[in-house]
Amino acid sequence: MTEAPATPAQAGDARLPQRLKNLLNDRHIVLIGLMGAGKTSVGKRLAQRLDLPFVDSDHAIEEAARMSIPEIFANRGEAEFRAGERKVIARLLSGRQHVIATGGGAYMDEQTRQHIRESAVSIWLKADLPVLMKRVLRRPTRPLLQTPDPEGTMRALMEKRYPVYAEADVTVLSEESTHETAVQAVIDALDAHLSGAKGEEES
Ligand code: S3P
Repeated sequence: MTEAPATPAQAGDARLPQRLKNLLNDRHIVLIGLMGAGKTSVGKRLAQRLDLPFVDSDHAIEEAARMSIPEIFANRGEAEFRAGERKVIARLLSGRQHVIATGGGAYMDEQTRQHIRESAVSIWLKADLPVLMKRVLRRPTRPLLQTPDPEGTMRALMEKRYPVYAEADVTVLSEESTHETAVQAVIDALDAHLSGAKGEEES
């Protein structure tokens, strides 16, 4: 039995990961956004699609400290967690190309933002409050949300952080859709951003 030739769309899709990797030119892809935005789930799938290694900065921090994030907050406090986070992310960014999912507060650090600008393309996974709350309630261990009013805390974080997250190179809405749909949206947005940037350089 002979196989039907690939349609142009299929053929194009098969070449897309390589095309994106060429355009990335060894830069990392860094996912930013609030807790519950889907950075880890989307990041893992994105890495698979692009055939790149994946790393979650929170996991790297836990490995380095040999403690879970809630334990670090409880035993060392937030300031020490942030210092460790800055150090671990700097190490990841100076290593070989990865898709990197960061913790929600990482991009708020000026030095980390500067490193990301220098060595990565940043993608903000943006979601509304109800979507974030639905997702974070599935894993109710996040230290910053151990407050009498987690929804109010999340709203305050949105107000403070969204203007800074908006500095990311690319913004993708991460709504109720499946992670696969979100990954495709990220790939399309990344393609548009990188192709546009290349076009500008050439013109
Ligand atoms: C934090 C988000 C968490 C984790 C820590 C602090 C934040 O990561 O880094 O609890 O400041 O928003 P996720 O965004 O992966 O939940």
